[in-house]
Amino acid sequence: MCGIVGYVGNKDAYPILVKGLYRMEYRGYDSAGVALVHSDKVEVYKCQGRVKDLETFCEGKDISGNCGIAHTRWATHGEPSNQNAHPHFSSDRKIALIHNGIIENHLVLRDALIKQGYEFTSDTDSEVLIHLIEDINKNENVDLPEAVRLALSQVQGTYAIIVVSIDDPHTLITARKGSPVIIGFGKDEYYVASDGSALVEYTKKVVYLNDEEIAVLTPGNDLTVKTVKNKRVSHYIQQIQISLDQLEKGGYEHFMLKEIYEQPRSIADSMRGRLNVKKDVVSLGGIVEYEDRLLSARRIIIVACGTSYHAGLVGEHLFEDLIRIPVEVEYASEFRYRNPIIYEDDVVIAISQSGETADTLAAIELAKKKGATVLGICNVVGSSIARATDAGSYTHAGPEIGVASTKAFTAQVTVLALMALCLANRKGKIPQKRYKKLVEELESIPSKVETILKDNESIKQIANYMKDFSNALYLGRNYNYPVALEGALKLKEISYIHAEGYPAAEMKHGPIALIDEDMPVVVIATNKGSYEKVVSNIQEVKARKGKIISIVSEGDVDVKKLSDYVIEIPETEEMYVPILASVPLQLLAYHVAVMCGRDVDRPRNLAKSVTVE
Ligand code: AGP
Repeated sequence: MCGIVGYVGNKDAYPILVKGLYRMEYRGYDSAGVALVHSDKVEVYKCQGRVKDLETFCEGKDISGNCGIAHTRWATHGEPSNQNAHPHFSSDRKIALIHNGIIENHLVLRDALIKQGYEFTSDTDSEVLIHLIEDINKNENVDLPEAVRLALSQVQGTYAIIVVSIDDPHTLITARKGSPVIIGFGKDEYYVASDGSALVEYTKKVVYLNDEEIAVLTPGNDLTVKTVKNKRVSHYIQQIQISLDQLEKGGYEHFMLKEIYEQPRSIADSMRGRLNVKKDVVSLGGIVEYEDRLLSARRIIIVACGTSYHAGLVGEHLFEDLIRIPVEVEYASEFRYRNPIIYEDDVVIAISQSGETADTLAAIELAKKKGATVLGICNVVGSSIARATDAGSYTHAGPEIGVASTKAFTAQVTVLALMALCLANRKGKIPQKRYKKLVEELESIPSKVETILKDNESIKQIANYMKDFSNALYLGRNYNYPVALEGALKLKEISYIHAEGYPAAEMKHGPIALIDEDMPVVVIATNKGSYEKVVSNIQEVKARKGKIISIVSEGDVDVKKLSDYVIEIPETEEMYVPILASVPLQLLAYHVAVMCGRDVDRPRNLAKSVTVE
């Protein structure tokens, strides 16, 4: 996600725009830019780097003007670079645009515009918007707001845009679909931003645009709003009630909680443009040229650290289940030093949220040196790991600020599921009926996560029970063993309570000695295949006075009877349980940490990106 901000009125626009970008830097920070509109020109200054780098870039330049737009970028298409930074210009440099979102049909639109003679200066999906708008503005001989409306009627995907033009240097045109736009009302001035944090110090009077609405903002004129379908709509002005700090966290107390609640959206974004249920098509553009390589691989080796390693363990089940290729999952830090045997027909997949983890980078270099093909699954476009791998897929989860990884994990598992489905269908390893069912079920996952999030209060009560213990055990089998590991990692890294994840069946080989009334045991017990075995594991714990906190599928009976606390999650395919079951464990760890008074977003001794050994 990116941050957009616009101003038009009687003040200097530049300081308002830059300050707004600083307020929204958590939304994206790999490049930034500003456009200032005059009657004879649009001055655009943009560069790779953070907002402070943009300020340095603008020193000594003409930053006058009472109308302007600005953007801080979180790259989705096109690496972080000066030319990929926003704003983007029309060919005649009379119009400028900024965009937050993903244009799914950008390649089709781009090809058509190139055929009409438009030249693109960036690799972004956003740039198609400005050329489409200018093309319609000229060829349909309509005014700019109408050109924006007609252009957006051709767009598939999500957008929050602001458009300015020298032909009307005192007007902002803004529109949204799937990405937020908030309009602020000043005295003979308008503000536009992705969220209230960029405008709350100037005004608390706001309107929240709805999807597929376009607003024209000219000081002295009333706000006019139309839908993409050309229907006039009216809005009531509201008052922003929450503080600036809360606004930057979207009204949540911590970034971690905000990111947990973003998961319906981030999981949907990780599938966007890749899962077409109507046509039963799963395709990942980033690896399409490597599908044959993967299908003919002797082995798939997944290397990662921490939470990403746990996603890799889920990937092992997905790939071996669906495409029957041997998979090994390795801690990157171990892999890089043990002189592993790597064959040229191996395919290595590196998973990393930050794309900067030193151990994972080193593992990639080792694999490349030994001739293996290396693919990446990263969340940061243009990151070191994304650039070091032969190809890969981005998770599109948006910036993850909380040190404890949450939405990145569910997005990683989603991308791995998409990869496995795509390859399984290519290889014909699963019956078409089963494939279709898995594709349909994957599409329903974001709404099932939404359902789980409604259970937050009861999970908070369980946290109130767990917060007083010094240890905890997390148990799971098969697909749920990585979930047990991930749940334990979440608890220990933000609450500092010692927690271990174990395969449930492993209890009798040692850990059962730990069980007594002071050892809460979290069991992910949704398995269809080994349900009875998990039930007997739970009975072994109960027989030794252990307390059971279970995660079960809706409608469960047997495990519920044995549990002291129960969290129900919607029924789903076994292979998608890790996505659903990890969400209550994220909330459980979050609430325990808050109750323990921990610095949830910045836990002690930890960093968001471990760029050192
Ligand atoms: C996860 O909650 C931790 N913050 C940590 O284990 C993290 O997953 C690990 O450092 C790997 O980071 P990466 O995904 O950015 O490579």
